[in-house]
Amino acid sequence: MLRKRWLKIPVFLLCLAPLGWLGWRAWNQDLSANPIEFITRYTGDWTLRFLVFTLAITPLRKLLRLPDLIKFRRMIGLFAFFYSCLHFTTYIWLDKFFDLTEMLHDVARRPFITAGFTSFVLMIPLGLTSTTGWIRRLGGKRWQMLHRLVYGSAVAGVIHYYWLVKSAVQRPIFYGVLVAIALVIRATFWAISKRPRQETNAPIPAVR
Ligand code: HEM
Repeated sequence: MLRKRWLKIPVFLLCLAPLGWLGWRAWNQDLSANPIEFITRYTGDWTLRFLVFTLAITPLRKLLRLPDLIKFRRMIGLFAFFYSCLHFTTYIWLDKFFDLTEMLHDVARRPFITAGFTSFVLMIPLGLTSTTGWIRRLGGKRWQMLHRLVYGSAVAGVIHYYWLVKSAVQRPIFYGVLVAIALVIRATFWAISKRPRQETNAPIPAVR
């Protein structure tokens, strides 16, 4: 089933659904009493969710033995970047009115903004080098190394969320646990792949 090429279309539409839902609520003037805060939080939530979905692909395809899941990783990762751009645009446009000085002031002074900014900046090279052309240009190994930045981005995103909530820390901790699980599974597979292989040409003991 996962091999079907058309499957990418419903997955693409599903990834767009959060934006559609936001548009629907905006159309119905249902964005709470503070629409800017609502949109900022909504797009921030979906950025982090898509990052977690991206990180979940490799463990899931290995644990469930579904190698074809890899086909969706690039698309889902790009959606994380897309929602982070919307999140950032909401902040810089609707919140700061393109006042770059004010924004840099925020980045330097407010630790939760510094963490969010770090997470966003780490995603930029991933988004820009996501094409097949860039995989060829960088070479598979270097491209893979670069794309490990996704873990740094996710960790910074969780810290950003944790630092901005005052007391309701359950949700950032929940995302933190998911990111930690993905990291541990990844490290385990890496350690297994580095284990010296069993000697295959050892002498076969004589059968008496
Ligand atoms: C330049 C980058 C970023 C800036 C300036 C920024 C700024 C903000 C601001 C101002 C808020 C709302 C705070 C409030 O209402 O009190 C927020 C919320 C949030 N941001 Fe970001 N952010 C950035 C990047 C990111 C990234 C990359 C992620 C995800 C990895 C993220 C995830 C979140 C989450 C989950 C929330 C809270 C949503 C909720 O309360 O349900 N942010 N961000």
